[in-house]
Amino acid sequence: MGKQLGVGIVGSGFIAQVHFDAFQFVKDARVVASADVDQKRGKAFQKKNSPKHFFSDHRKLAEMDEVDVVTLGVPNYLHASFAIDILNRGKHVICEKPLCMTLEEADAIIAAMKRNRREVFYAEELCFAPKFVQMKRVVDAGAVGRPYLVKEWEKHAGPYSPWFWKRETAGGGIMMDMGCHAIEFCRWFAGKPKVKSVFAHCGLYLHKKITRLDDNIIVIMEFDDGSIANVEASWALKGGMDSVAECYGTDGVIYADLLRGMGIRCFSEKGFGPNPAEMQGWRYHEYDWNWENGYPHEMMHFADCIRTGKKPIEGAEDGKVVLEIMLAAYHSAGTGQRVSLPFRPKGVKYPVDLWLKPQPGLRG
Ligand SMILES: NC(=O)c1ccc[n+]([C@@H]2O[C@H](COP(=O)([O-])OP(=O)(O)OC[C@H]3O[C@@H](n4cnc5c(N)ncnc54)[C@H](O)[C@@H]3O)[C@@H](O)[C@H]2O)c1
Repeated sequence: MGKQLGVGIVGSGFIAQVHFDAFQFVKDARVVASADVDQKRGKAFQKKNSPKHFFSDHRKLAEMDEVDVVTLGVPNYLHASFAIDILNRGKHVICEKPLCMTLEEADAIIAAMKRNRREVFYAEELCFAPKFVQMKRVVDAGAVGRPYLVKEWEKHAGPYSPWFWKRETAGGGIMMDMGCHAIEFCRWFAGKPKVKSVFAHCGLYLHKKITRLDDNIIVIMEFDDGSIANVEASWALKGGMDSVAECYGTDGVIYADLLRGMGIRCFSEKGFGPNPAEMQGWRYHEYDWNWENGYPHEMMHFADCIRTGKKPIEGAEDGKVVLEIMLAAYHSAGTGQRVSLPFRPKGVKYPVDLWLKPQPGLRG
């Protein structure tokens, strides 16, 4: 690897742009290539952001000498095969959440990572968001005594791309989209203790006309020290996005609002801009969105790990644990039972099936 870290981005949708913007903060790193099977979309991304090279096949991008690490901004069902293709070409991978769709895929990613001696970074940016990092520092310093409950919720009114709504491309609904964020936040915040059991409710409330997938979930995780986490995620929240954390301890409590707590509150009777209806009423206008969400910090950390060989804060094993918890949560919601971990059912192609077609006798 040369002095400058060469970055390739696969996909040119929402998160690809976020990754590109985040890498502008990383010293001695440069996005040199992008790839997308959709040539029109991919070329528009290249024109806007000017990486030098464009490919319609991610494998060609990974074969470039200039590329050291490839970020994956593609639908969930492609994560595993793309990550393995890239690892097999000797490059590191930054994989968006969820890591993949099945535990078998997670094992194959980890095996390819070990075989090729390359790293898979799990892009859970909430563990890098400055406000949440500070919240954890305060709690770790003893401010609230012994924490017994951590809560995190991730909610908005639903995603923008059709693939999110289908089990074949997403693996599940809000659980696989935003539930995985909240689950990993709580695990990271608590210091990654073992999860003993999972109890969950899934529902479909707002989007029955377009999907069968879950659009609202509540998950309770019990850690092995007896403390608990309460995760909520929703595609059924009107009025903007919520990303909120709370921690309750024997001597105190702490609250952090990632997006609405930036200090700007605006009431607009008529709204404004291209979609005035979306801007009416009370709005909490965000600024420095990319920075506040921790994407640059995440990429700086991953780049540092590549240079120094340091173990990442979030890696493929973490993504696998999150997937196991989501499988347990869907199984719990489907059967009404509390599910003990380890829970590693074989042959579950789409995690949401454990809720849609409950299997009470299934053992992990
Ligand atoms: N961490 C976060 O905050 C966050 C936010 C949004 C999405 N995500 C994750 O990022 C991933 C992508 O989501 P998105 O919102 O950017 O989706 P998107 O629909 O906006 O973009 C997906 C992109 O993938 C491309 N693509 C599809 N098939 C491809 C293929 N075979 N080869 C190359 N490119 C292909 C599409 O053309 C498109 O450009 C998902 O896994 C999602 O869960 C993470």
